[in-house]
Amino acid sequence: MSSPFDLTGRTAVVTGGGRGLGLGISQALLAAGADVVVLGRNPLPDELTGQAADLGRAVQHYPLDLADSDAIAATSAQVLADHRIDILVNNAGTQDRHPAVDFPLAAWDHVIDVNLRAVFQLCQLFGRPMLERGHGAVVNLASLLSFQGGMTVPAYAASKGAVAQLTKALCNEWAGQGVNVNAVAPGYMATDMNVALLADPVRLEQLSVRIPAGRWGLPQDIGDVVVFLASPAAGYVHGQVLAVDGGWLAR
Ligand SMILES: NC(=O)c1ccc[n+]([C@@H]2O[C@H](COP(=O)([O-])OP(=O)(O)OC[C@H]3O[C@@H](n4cnc5c(N)ncnc54)[C@H](OP(=O)(O)O)[C@@H]3O)[C@@H](O)[C@H]2O)c1
Repeated sequence: MSSPFDLTGRTAVVTGGGRGLGLGISQALLAAGADVVVLGRNPLPDELTGQAADLGRAVQHYPLDLADSDAIAATSAQVLADHRIDILVNNAGTQDRHPAVDFPLAAWDHVIDVNLRAVFQLCQLFGRPMLERGHGAVVNLASLLSFQGGMTVPAYAASKGAVAQLTKALCNEWAGQGVNVNAVAPGYMATDMNVALLADPVRLEQLSVRIPAGRWGLPQDIGDVVVFLASPAAGYVHGQVLAVDGGWLAR
């Protein structure tokens, strides 16, 4: 009997799947048996193409800037012409830090465009054929700042709060049509997104001592949970924003 976590024969789109948490997600999906299509600005790293080759699976890159709505439409159409997409992982996200009173509106628009507008557009474009087939899974990357406000990141917090609500809104429309929509809310993860926090010894200490698990998260911690939410094992899981945070929110 096959494992309920097995993704053999499925193809997943992962935005920003070539580095950071996205790389961990792509690697976990490949390990679970899926083929992976990465949408992002940069070429794929050798460790990802090498893993796919070792496993005999396919990983393909389509260049895309998620701030460009027309490019999202054109690239998604090409991906759908080339593949049947069973899983969409909206991983890519961006961050900008300024005190709220000085936050440039252009920076606000960019964060909202990449973190929210692009996520909704991709859900529409890849969700439609899933709904027509009556089968599919969408996993969005939310954040602790879907629940908390953060400091000097008002656009990011607003975008991630909205991603959590969007996840529930799509669940209510799509769960009855065979499409699971859920989100993962990572805690503090040691990726490029947090270089400013990691470089500030005072903030780093304040944050680190508050994590019950006693460590920052790793891309693999998120990748394995995305596999679960994309797999038959999570067939009755709909509309959840699952914190993967070392216990941070329980504190
Ligand atoms: N790190 C954390 O502590 C944390 C916590 C909670 C939630 N998250 C969320 O988890 C997701 C991944 O975060 P991360 O830590 O891996 O961040 P990261 O290391 O900064 O990587 C960001 C990813 O998003 C892609 N991206 C950003 N802007 C893009 C654009 N305009 N077009 C296409 N791709 C774009 C990047 O691709 P390029 O290579 O093209 O730049 C990269 O793959 C994000 O949604 C983030 O908000 C992270």
